[in-house]
Amino acid sequence: VDLAGANTLGLPCVAERVAAPRTLPQLRESLDTARARAWPTLLLGGGSNLILPARLPGLVLRPAMAEWWLEDNGGDGVRVHAEAGVVWHELVMSLARRGLWGLENLALIPGHCGAAPIQNIGAYGVELCDVLEAVHLVHLDDGREAILAPEDCAFGYRDSVFKGGLAGRVVITRLVMRLSRRAAPRLAYGDLASRVGAAPTPLEVAEAVCAVRREKLPDPAMLGNAGSFFKNPVVSSAAAERLLQAHPDLPHFPQPGGRVKLAAGWLIDRCGLKGWRRGHFGVHDRQALVLVHHGGGSAEELLRFADAVAAEVQGRFGIALEREPRLAEARAV
Ligand code: EPU
Repeated sequence: VDLAGANTLGLPCVAERVAAPRTLPQLRESLDTARARAWPTLLLGGGSNLILPARLPGLVLRPAMAEWWLEDNGGDGVRVHAEAGVVWHELVMSLARRGLWGLENLALIPGHCGAAPIQNIGAYGVELCDVLEAVHLVHLDDGREAILAPEDCAFGYRDSVFKGGLAGRVVITRLVMRLSRRAAPRLAYGDLASRVGAAPTPLEVAEAVCAVRREKLPDPAMLGNAGSFFKNPVVSSAAAERLLQAHPDLPHFPQPGGRVKLAAGWLIDRCGLKGWRRGHFGVHDRQALVLVHHGGGSAEELLRFADAVAAEVQGRFGIALEREPRLAEARAV
């Protein structure tokens, strides 16, 4: 099965077989079969934050349960339940159109709901963990179901237990998130405030976020990419001080706990790499944190290109950049 169209980087990938269960019993059946046949298994959602290898033996499992519904108990708060296969952006826009607050800053993030907790998606001052109430999942090894509270998910900046202790061991089947009818615009990031009226609706905020993203981020349908390719580095306050003396215009964001988050895109940009192209890959010309695939390249070439970018930043600023998208790897279940 050709997965070149199933990853936003557009990397060539052929899977031995793919299953797309539409219900929980179908999902459990796929897992039972994979276990019985000893197929290594990889979970794939929207493929927007993954680097796929040329070949994937065993089973690629794409959860296709795609219902969502509201749980409304009166009052200001409303819960939304969204199954793993729901397209994130479509859910965000449907909720914003209903006048519900909570997810509007996360508009236009590519991918499916099931993948959102893995990297704790975040943008424009909001992270998934700010609104998440529960994650429903199924364990790969024995099919048992569990519900995790946010405290159990070890959420951090672009991080969670699903990248750590539970990596490759569970299928996220459903998210439960808390929304509000009460106006709660979060407009502190960048120039978001200047793009909406004085008393914006959630839809206006979502549309402003979409506009900002469209200005900077390439559309994967036009140009292969996985969004930000590196995490923004979080350094000690002493290290940040040192860098700020040499580079007073370095964008920096103090974090709770005293550490300081720096803008990796700025660091790459300052190395003169914006728009740089080598072989089939390049640094996006409007946002240096995004690596783009011009077509015809491979995962290995991409990783070498990324290493070359990171080496420039290391050499110039002494900062090690950490990759953001995960390397896909099929595992025994
Ligand atoms: N900058 C430059 N040159 C560049 C890129 C950025 O000078 O080429 C500067 C900007 O001027 C700004 C700062 O760097 O002062 C930060 O840039 P921006 O606001 O564009 O955000 P970012 O730090 O590059 C992060 C997230 C994005 C998210 C935006 C908005 C990470 C790794 N990335 O990017 O998330 O949309 O903030 O909240 O945290 C993603 O994870 O795939 C993603 C797109």
